[in-house]
Amino acid sequence: MAAEPLLITGGRIIDPGTGTDAVGDLLLIDGRVAVPGARTATAARTIDARGLVVAPGLIDLHTHLREPGQEYKETIASGTRAAARGGFTTVCAMPNTDPAIDNRAVVEYIQRTAAEVAAARVLVTGAITRGRAGKQLAEMGELAAAGCIGFSDDGTYVVDSGLMRHALEYARALGLPVLDHAEDPVIAAGGVMHEGWVATRLGLKGTPAAAEEAAVARDLQLAALTGGHIHIQHVSTAGAVDLVRTAKARGVPVTAEVTPHHLTLTHEAVLGRDTAPYDTSCRVNPPLRTDRDVEACIDGLRDGTIDAVATDHAPHATTDKLCEFDLAAPGLTGLETALALVLRLVHAGRISFAEALARLTCGPARALRLAERTGLTGLGTLAAGAPADVVVIDPDRIWTVQPAALASKGKNTPFDGWQLTGQVLVTVASGTVTYNALEN
Ligand code: DOR
Repeated sequence: MAAEPLLITGGRIIDPGTGTDAVGDLLLIDGRVAVPGARTATAARTIDARGLVVAPGLIDLHTHLREPGQEYKETIASGTRAAARGGFTTVCAMPNTDPAIDNRAVVEYIQRTAAEVAAARVLVTGAITRGRAGKQLAEMGELAAAGCIGFSDDGTYVVDSGLMRHALEYARALGLPVLDHAEDPVIAAGGVMHEGWVATRLGLKGTPAAAEEAAVARDLQLAALTGGHIHIQHVSTAGAVDLVRTAKARGVPVTAEVTPHHLTLTHEAVLGRDTAPYDTSCRVNPPLRTDRDVEACIDGLRDGTIDAVATDHAPHATTDKLCEFDLAAPGLTGLETALALVLRLVHAGRISFAEALARLTCGPARALRLAERTGLTGLGTLAAGAPADVVVIDPDRIWTVQPAALASKGKNTPFDGWQLTGQVLVTVASGTVTYNALEN
């Protein structure tokens, strides 16, 4: 069913994909962005965006929707509601579901469920290996034919280097990227946070930066060898940023993402607040690192070494976190705080508004060539004919993170009580309003 025409008036339209930054009106007709100046035959519904920023809907390359199998943590319905609240109109679902997304039936289950209930476009990432067990390749051709936009064993590293080589060869033949959870478990050796002084003080086992850097280095070499596109997920160390930067300069087919939390927090967050150390909301893979690593990630984001900010939205139930730090499930809920956390860098003068939006819109779309892969020309931009995916933002509105108010089932956030500046007011996906705080 075609959504009724929608006219967003008087906003500051910032669309890094087309280099636009100007006050104007945006008309959405039949699920597409209309040609500037176009008129509708019927009266359009109007949103007054004066004083607000109008941008392409955000795209998340890294979302855990947990369905099928872990619906107590999140569902496709609740996860995409959280996406809409966070300004996201497209999310890429990770395959560490139960069962894993390693065959056509699971892909189709997600696509059909999303078509019925989702408040955002759901693109599916298939597993690299069967059951994500790292032993045999999944049916990659079948997954590609079913519509997967790439392959990942996210949550685990493909330890077998020969298998990873073959994965990159097949992925290349299929024209798809391999998304790499780059963390060597042999080096990590059961670490539960960054290896450094905080881990020592708390008596927790640490994961050194080298666990990530060794893994990234191997996979950059394999990408160079095979010509397969490697996308490094959740880069967290200065060394990994450098490796990606150098590989890009050498022409290796590599792209990379960083999470809002790795741009914001250090391992000191595990010390907790109010003299309550061992804050399990800060247990995450890869772990929160040092100031130097955060700075390097910000530099990488600014200079384009890192193509995209991706949330790694990892909702967990309260019981998964209400336990000893070492036993807590890794991950944090991320979709609803992502934009405001990235805007902290803008408000601090570290990156421009347009750069921040670029890494959340055209950056991720280009990194994984999502427009070509989905047939949605212009995805991630507001070019005429692009999908009518739009977010309206009040860049100056101050709000307080309240876990209970999050649409996600996952209330696991280390940003509980933080005051953030910049809030999503309206989200429109494929021409349909999926979130509207102006009506509340
Ligand atoms: O912290 C994380 N949580 N990192 C991952 O790679 C997986 C994720 C999850 O699925 O919970």
